[in-house]
Amino acid sequence: MRTPSSLLRAFRPQVQENLYDFYEEMRSADDLFWDRSLGAWIATGHAVVSSAAGDPGLSSVRYPDVEAPGAVPEELRPLARVLSRQMLYSDAPDHARLRALISKAFTPRAVATLRTRIVEAVDRIVTRAAPTGRMDVVADLARPLPLTIICDLLDVPERDRPAVAAWSEPVAEAIGNSRLDAEGSRAASQSMTDMLAYLRELLTRHDTPPAPHTLRAMVTAQAGNTDQDLDELLANCALLLIAGHETTTHFIGNATLALLRHPQAADQLRRRPDLMPAAVEELLRYDAPVQLMLRRARRDLDLAGRTIAEGQTVLLVCGAANRDPAAFPDPHVLDFGRPGGRHMSFGHGPHFCLGAALARMEGAIVLEALLARLPGLRLDGTEPPRWQRSLNFRGLTRLDVAFTPPTA
Ligand code: HEM
Repeated sequence: MRTPSSLLRAFRPQVQENLYDFYEEMRSADDLFWDRSLGAWIATGHAVVSSAAGDPGLSSVRYPDVEAPGAVPEELRPLARVLSRQMLYSDAPDHARLRALISKAFTPRAVATLRTRIVEAVDRIVTRAAPTGRMDVVADLARPLPLTIICDLLDVPERDRPAVAAWSEPVAEAIGNSRLDAEGSRAASQSMTDMLAYLRELLTRHDTPPAPHTLRAMVTAQAGNTDQDLDELLANCALLLIAGHETTTHFIGNATLALLRHPQAADQLRRRPDLMPAAVEELLRYDAPVQLMLRRARRDLDLAGRTIAEGQTVLLVCGAANRDPAAFPDPHVLDFGRPGGRHMSFGHGPHFCLGAALARMEGAIVLEALLARLPGLRLDGTEPPRWQRSLNFRGLTRLDVAFTPPTA
């Protein structure tokens, strides 16, 4: 059997552009292999990724013993302490308790109340761009929109939103980079500390009563609980701020690019808006905004016939699983008629994305507006779109489009 290349090659710009060819080469060599350069198992097959994602023998705890000397580089410790309290990086039984703290804000009913705000925000952005005939989808729409919505949910005032965006960036960079240097670690730790101090002040203030169903209402309802409860709640609100906007930003950019590269699919969607829910799922499968999930073996265990030793890391490559021909016939074809429900883009098992309903709704509203309101929508410029440098997140740094402005 050939030894597959290291996943680290995915950092190279020319591999980013042909990422799914690279994964295919990797998967056809072996769908679960030990990557010596990364010091981790790499899972690329759909069957292995989906079974591993919910396997209780594999832990989501990223920093098992944050306080132990030498366990975490000193510069990273403040960030690691906060991440350790987040549901994404915890196992049962803590995981269920942490998820329950904020899951009420994400019931389908609670999410549906955000629809009007999303429609209004998209309408404002598209109305501003329409007469100009040009826009950078990433800077003008994909970045500001999810930030606006998640900040609305958390009651973050307009004036503070640029700071929230600035704090998120180094943290997302730290989460997505397996070779973070001391400076990057320090920046991420400081940003997380600042974000938490801000959230503490914002969510526990008493000047105005919180609007119902917001996270501030939930924090207020928890008043009287211990400091530890409040710390956990705030750490998970910080998770929402980061998870809730970086990912959706990339989804909007990646999905728009896929439609621009498949004009027939875009036309089909213009003619048949009822296909939008299926299109959203297929676009999530086609180019996943989150490419990796990380797990660590709690004990020696068998995974797809391989022995994973206690403590070893397993990287579950959702983006590769989504293009596995064993699960998706003709996986490189964008097909809105495909049966849904199997992609790994929102994960699988107990950590299944809490914000999935919100992300789907934001994506559908944006794509509908772009297709319906910007006639002649096409890629602009000669430069190929550039991908952000991250193994974990897949997203564009900019996406220039042109369209026909309305005649006066
Ligand atoms: C298209 C956009 C999104 C994608 C692709 C995405 C992807 C994911 C994935 C793959 C996981 C599972 C990680 C794992 O098992 O290790 C996850 C978990 C999570 N996501 Fe999302 N996400 C998106 C949007 C959102 C939004 C909008 C929010 C919140 C407002 C959110 C909040 C969360 C939270 C809190 C978790 C942790 C759940 C848990 O550990 O129980 N996500 N997401």
